[in-house]
Amino acid sequence: MPRAIELAPSILSANFANLAEHAKQALDGGGTLLHLDIMDGHFVPNLTIGPPVVASLRKALPTTIFDCHLMIENPDEFIPAFAEAGANWISVHQEACVHLDRTLHLIADHGCKPAVVLNPATPVETLADVLELVHHVLIMSVNPGFGGQKFIRNSLKKMETLANIREERGLNFRIEVDGGVDLSTVGGIVRAGAELLVAGNAVFGHGDATQNARQLLDAARAATLARA
Ligand code: DX5
Ligand code: ZN
Repeated sequence: MPRAIELAPSILSANFANLAEHAKQALDGGGTLLHLDIMDGHFVPNLTIGPPVVASLRKALPTTIFDCHLMIENPDEFIPAFAEAGANWISVHQEACVHLDRTLHLIADHGCKPAVVLNPATPVETLADVLELVHHVLIMSVNPGFGGQKFIRNSLKKMETLANIREERGLNFRIEVDGGVDLSTVGGIVRAGAELLVAGNAVFGHGDATQNARQLLDAARAATLARA
């Protein structure tokens, strides 16, 4: 059954000197949640924001869902701080978690929706024993660390595999995609079964964020109709 498509603008490509305003523009274009990329310079070769920035954004956007994507080596140490700062959804990398089951429970215990992320080289099958626990699975369609990279087409197969497993097992987790989502890739992504669309560069990288968000969502929804 086709599921509701949602756009999660990724602030990684937004203007950090005017973050809340730029984010609001994307939400005005139909973004229903905000994707916040947390990078530690170890798990990925880049640094971004920590809990104080999430807390400031939370004050500016009191009701927006914050989808916090942790690209950090020791997520258990920071989950309480991000929950306290205002995260709603917290996703952790399978590759960063030795005790993934424990980490997902820790997220839920802090009142957030738990999710797991797969790097491009990590097979979907590695998640077989945690799919009952997660609110969503995030398929990376670039190697994490930077915005504006080229979409890795093999990720489409992973979305299809995951959607089939969900169907066969009667589960309800949602499928999110992150990296290289733009007007040229979004149709194939939606047809492959993803419904939560993270987009940074395509929304914030040029022109008007409201218009960019709206165009991307329109293209995604048109592809859903073709899928149905
Ligand atoms: C990359 C981040 C993404 C990033 C996507 O590691 O996880 O959320 O913002 O950027 P685009 O949409 O520009 O590929
Ligand atoms: Zn991300």
